[in-house]
Amino acid sequence: MMETVHVGLEGREYDIHIGPGLLAQTGTFIGPFLKRKHVCVVTDENVAALHLDTLRDGLAAEGIGFEALVLPAGESTKNWLHLERTVEWLLAQRVERSDLVVALGGGVIGDLTGFAAAILRRGVGFVQIPTSLLAQVDSSVGGKTGINSPLGKNLIGAFHQPRLVLADIDVLGTLTPRDFLAGYGEVVKYGMLGDVNFFEWLEAQGPKLAAGDVAARIEAVKRSCEMKAEIVMRDETEQGDRALLNLGHTFCHALEAATGYGDRLLHGEGVAVGCALAFELSARLGLCSQEDPSRVRQHLHEMGMKVDLKDIEGDLPDADTLLDLMGQDKKVVDGQLRFILARGIGKSFVTADVPRDTVRALLVEELSAR
Ligand SMILES: NC(=O)c1ccc[n+]([C@@H]2O[C@H](COP(=O)([O-])OP(=O)(O)OC[C@H]3O[C@@H](n4cnc5c(N)ncnc54)[C@H](O)[C@@H]3O)[C@@H](O)[C@H]2O)c1
Repeated sequence: MMETVHVGLEGREYDIHIGPGLLAQTGTFIGPFLKRKHVCVVTDENVAALHLDTLRDGLAAEGIGFEALVLPAGESTKNWLHLERTVEWLLAQRVERSDLVVALGGGVIGDLTGFAAAILRRGVGFVQIPTSLLAQVDSSVGGKTGINSPLGKNLIGAFHQPRLVLADIDVLGTLTPRDFLAGYGEVVKYGMLGDVNFFEWLEAQGPKLAAGDVAARIEAVKRSCEMKAEIVMRDETEQGDRALLNLGHTFCHALEAATGYGDRLLHGEGVAVGCALAFELSARLGLCSQEDPSRVRQHLHEMGMKVDLKDIEGDLPDADTLLDLMGQDKKVVDGQLRFILARGIGKSFVTADVPRDTVRALLVEELSAR
């Protein structure tokens, strides 16, 4: 039942294995990459309580020893303090350049650990074992690693590709429904940005997938990883096409900043709301038909996801403040906001040619509907 997606970056290529029960077989997968039979694992408290024993047994079965650093769960762990703690811990464990560091967790642990591996001894290898849906379909693939600054998200980081990604579909079973659906925001994003057939498949299979169907989950993770891998191979360091993966993110980053990067709005929830806004904006600019944003919204509604600004609890700032927050986005070039818009579902493109007034009018309308 295992599927493999290959990321064919010359000199930095790796496989993403996707299937049930992979955690228990970690030793078999990792063994061939190890010079000595020992790994350092970084994880968070939630994941450690649920899955660290399985990983330990999976490594022990192949005679591989391990030490683990268990960090607090949550976005606030992706900071200088925990980066320093992780790097110093890895040094204290005498990790050498030929060793592998293992990231076991969601996007927070993957980003932080990957960055620690990138700067430790000028770069040691690392393995991603993503445990959230978001991490399996997005953050564990493509080599973006980093931490947040008080000035913004993901502003400090490096490109550092993993040596291997193990996406065990079974571990998704312990996610809260809310965290699972937040990850689904990134899954459906792939359909919207580049594959209408995948979007259609999700319209039909999404509810089954959310309910726990293993085959549907494997297929969704596989197709998402294929699409991400394909874009990363074309444009590893985001000089062009990789920006398409940011569909919905200009709005999302402003909304995350406005809601304090916390429980009010999870990243994947913000992506879904942002995608709905990006399609609405595209329709208003005459790029796609009005049916496209309606169809996007309908699917997100059917999945029980946040769709509109009114679905975000608590106060939001006014349209001008949201626009200013969008101006902090990493996609800003020479002060010009860049958006990912669409000529239809599956047909996205990057543009800086968006009148500020049109975005403002859309935000004013959405905010007044709250
Ligand atoms: N590097 C990239 O390309 C990239 C892409 C997208 C997002 N990201 C980053 O990813 C982060 C978000 O990732 P996330 O949503 O995985 O957040 P997360 O790592 O905080 O995980 C969400 C929650 O789920 C818990 N969890 C994880 N796996 C679990 C499991 N199997 N069972 C039970 N609980 C589990 C975690 O402990 C946490 O509480 C953000 O920091 C974002 O910037 C990075």
